[in-house]
Amino acid sequence: MPETTEIIRISDPAAEASEIERAGQILREGGLVAFPTETVYGLGGNALLPESSRRIYAAKGRPSDNPLIVHIAETEELFSLAAEVPQLALTLAGAFWPGPMTLILKKSRAVPGQTTGGLDTVAVRLPSHPVARALIKAAGVPIAAPSANSSGRPSPTTAEHVVEDLFGKIDMIIDGGESDIGLESTIIDLTGEKPELLRPGFISEQAVTEVIGSVEKDPSILAVPAEGTAPRAPGMKYRHYAPAADMYLVSGEKEKVREKIRLLVSEAGSRGEKPAVICASQDEGCFEGAAVFSVGSAEDEREIAHRLFSVLRETDKAGVDIIFAEMLGGEQLDLAIKNRMLKAAGYKVIEV
Ligand code: TXA
Ligand code: MG
Repeated sequence: MPETTEIIRISDPAAEASEIERAGQILREGGLVAFPTETVYGLGGNALLPESSRRIYAAKGRPSDNPLIVHIAETEELFSLAAEVPQLALTLAGAFWPGPMTLILKKSRAVPGQTTGGLDTVAVRLPSHPVARALIKAAGVPIAAPSANSSGRPSPTTAEHVVEDLFGKIDMIIDGGESDIGLESTIIDLTGEKPELLRPGFISEQAVTEVIGSVEKDPSILAVPAEGTAPRAPGMKYRHYAPAADMYLVSGEKEKVREKIRLLVSEAGSRGEKPAVICASQDEGCFEGAAVFSVGSAEDEREIAHRLFSVLRETDKAGVDIIFAEMLGGEQLDLAIKNRMLKAAGYKVIEV
């Protein structure tokens, strides 16, 4: 374990080339560097060194059967990481890279099993954030990077969130400001007969189907995985994005949702519990007796996506006992927002 964690701030990678070089060297030599991406912060390690991946699992406290996403700086690098690159992969890469899209392919022998959680497939992503790309280039090797949170906690969208979870456990944190999107990448599995959406993200199902035709959807995106079946993305089986307090989603017609939450808040109060409400900004003034957290306007799905994880962390800081959240959504981002809210709540939904 490193003696301390160095924190550096980089807004323009070209202006701070020597700092990026230094961070790249730490990665190349097996150290761990957390860095900003357009989705969430990643915890990077050299994807080709089994020891680096082992360190990533240790720093996050993450089960080692949960595979890591390998980040690259140029599409060509796919050919050394994947045993075969189907045309569909190149089509999706052409449409969405650099950007928040992860592709699952059969892995090549260059990728150690420690990086893929023992699977014979590999997840690859080419991020668009300029600091992330400059760092991967400087490292000169592909970078394995899960979200830079402790296992189970909400993904980090600021360097401060990374400090909360990983300070003292990794070599360096690069602060590049707030993540633009705030939800992790869309994951598409291309190793089966048909392409399958394993994790919804900023790139919507509709955007994907416009490019490659229909995609299958992992049923566990919106429902508790049936007994005995495992979600196709191993990471999706773990309790995830979860605040410390027990969280319930309330879903249904707007006015009924507000009424139900008011009732739940007052019941919690009479039990001597400290309740919190997560809601759209339009409803901020509706819940007396609770700590109220607005995730943004119900009309602005990008803002909701951007703030959700940050708000979950705020409820932790406020030390509340129980959380009631309006089930929020949107259009393009509906599936991604609902998926993250359901996981944060452990799929506990009260329908009204
Ligand atoms: O936006 C993102 O994807 C962020 C940033 C840092 O790039 N990364 C991220 O990584 O969210 P992580 O490790 O928190 O989530 C990776 C997900 C997990 O659910 C994991 O199980 C799944 O991807 N995954 C990785 N490799 C896989 C594989 N070979 N087959 C199926 N699922 C895989
Ligand atoms: Mg994660």
